[in-house]
This record gives sequence, C-alpha cells and structure tokens, in this order.
Amino acid sequence: MSYNTILTNQENAIATVTINRPTKLNALNKETIKELHDVFSKLEKDKEIQVIILTGSGEKAFVAGADISEFSQFSVKEGGKLAAKGQKLLFDFIENLSTPVIAAVNGFALGGGLELAMACHFRVASTNAKMGLPEVSLGVIPGYGGTQRLPQLVGKGRAMEMIMTAGMISAEQGLSYGLVNHVVSQEELISVCEKIAKKISNNSPVAISYAIKAVNAGFMNTVNGYEQEIKAFGACFGTDDFTEGTSAFLEKRKADFPGS
Ligand code: COA
Repeated sequence: MSYNTILTNQENAIATVTINRPTKLNALNKETIKELHDVFSKLEKDKEIQVIILTGSGEKAFVAGADISEFSQFSVKEGGKLAAKGQKLLFDFIENLSTPVIAAVNGFALGGGLELAMACHFRVASTNAKMGLPEVSLGVIPGYGGTQRLPQLVGKGRAMEMIMTAGMISAEQGLSYGLVNHVVSQEELISVCEKIAKKISNNSPVAISYAIKAVNAGFMNTVNGYEQEIKAFGACFGTDDFTEGTSAFLEKRKADFPGS
C-alpha cells in the first residue's frame, strides 16, 4: 500500500510511521487522518509487528495541529462532524489499538498534534519539543480528545492552564508534568524509542494487548466528556470569534476577538 502523506518503515518487530508534510509542519488534513487510520489498522493485523513508533518528518515538528486551512470555513454541523469522525477514525482508534504505539515527539506538538501524541500509549520527546493546545487562540476548543486526555495525563489544574492560555510548554516541563516519559536529544530520539520498543517486544503481545484494554477501561467514565467536547467544538464554528481566529491565522496577523 502506498501513501501520499505518510512514510512507513519496518525493522524486525518494530514499525515506524512518519507523518510527511514537512512544509505544513505535518499538519493533519483529511487525507493524513485517513491514511494514518489505514496504516494503523494494517499494522495491528500484522502479527510480526509488536510495537509502532509514530513521529513527524523533518526537524521542526511532530504535528503542528489540524490543518486550519481545511476547516476555517466549516459550519457548526461540519465542525461537529470533523471532531466526531477524527476521534473515531484515528484518536480513539490508536488509544485502543492492541499493538503498543509510542509517540516520538520531535518538535512542535500543538492542537491535534498533541492530541495525537496523547492518544498514543506513551510519549518520548526530543529537547526541542514544544507542546500545547492553542485552539482557544483560534476561537475553537480542542476537538480530538484534548479536553479529556490532557487532564488525565497532567492533572486538571495544569490542563486548564494550558488550554486557557493556549501556551506551549517545553520538553522538560512536559517531563515534569508527566506528559512525556523521557526527554532525549533529537539525534537519539528514534533510537531511544527503538530501545524501549525492543524491551516491549520481548514480552507477550497478548498480555500487552490485554493490559492496554485494562488500563484504558479505567478511564472509560470520561466517555460523556468526549461527547461534550464534540458538541462544544461544533458550536465554536458558529461564532464570530472562530471566523476571526482562523482568518487571523491564515492572514498571518493577530486575532482581535469580538467575543461573540
Ligand atoms: N494548519 C495549517 N497550516 C499550518 C499549521 C496548521 N495547524 N501549522 C503550520 N502550518 C503551515 C503554515 O501556515 C506555513 O505554511 P506556508 O509556508 O504555506 O505559509 C507552514 O506550515 C510553516 O509554518 P510557519 O507558521 O511559517 O512556521 P513558524 O516556525 O513561523 O511557526 C508554529 C510555527 C507552529 C508556531 C505556527 O506554524 C503555528 O502557530 N501553527 C498553528 C498551530 C495551531 O494553532 N495548531 C492548532 C490547530 S487547531
């Protein structure tokens, strides 16, 4: 199978998936989401693959978010659909994959990019990584599970601050928050992930898949939170703030929110 927006590499029991839109800082468009779904479902079925590493192409970004140019004109209905479809096809899908997925966060992981890293089973970051959920600076909220998974990982107060300020945290801060498990140089990032993957691959794949299910089951009470996120995300598309926020990004100027 060949892909337009992702690269794959397979060595022994480890597959590496690289999101490959470096000129757009690997922003997630519809095609990338579909291709990621396809590759993850294919790899999950491949019994030779015991661990998947997910990373971004180039030295600057893991993923700088959902592709803003694709959704800036969306209606409330289309906005809600975007979040619901993306969550089902990719974010929930990865979280519940029976094969372990490690996010190798090699630069910006913003918005949908951080949400993607958080849907992976755990994260390793390079020292230059910058992570955040900047959606409210665009007049929208995180729609790919960010309002649910960020508090699970860093605690409610830190998540609230990150979401409200729309700011970015460094790799070291991410480490102290428990958002990433290790911070290493960019040159070492993939080899460190491979070393961890190798350790995982010495263990029982069946037991690991059951462990993933069991750990995830403990967070299932948040299921209504995900639905609330989809509804609120869609509602943002009917606001003047959203029109102003996304237009300002695409016109490369500072947003002046009308507050309606
Ligand atoms: N959607 C669409 N395009 C994006 C993008 C996104 N989320 N993030 C970056 N890009 C594009 C830029 O528009 C630019 O394209 P161009 O060269 O055709 O103009 C290219 O990627 C490079 O980005 P640029 O902004 O020039 O790089 P920078 O180093 O100055 O800034 C960021 C890097 C990550 C701070 C900045 O790109 C940014 O703020 N991106 C959006 C982050 C965001 O809000 N994500 C959440 C979306 S819901």
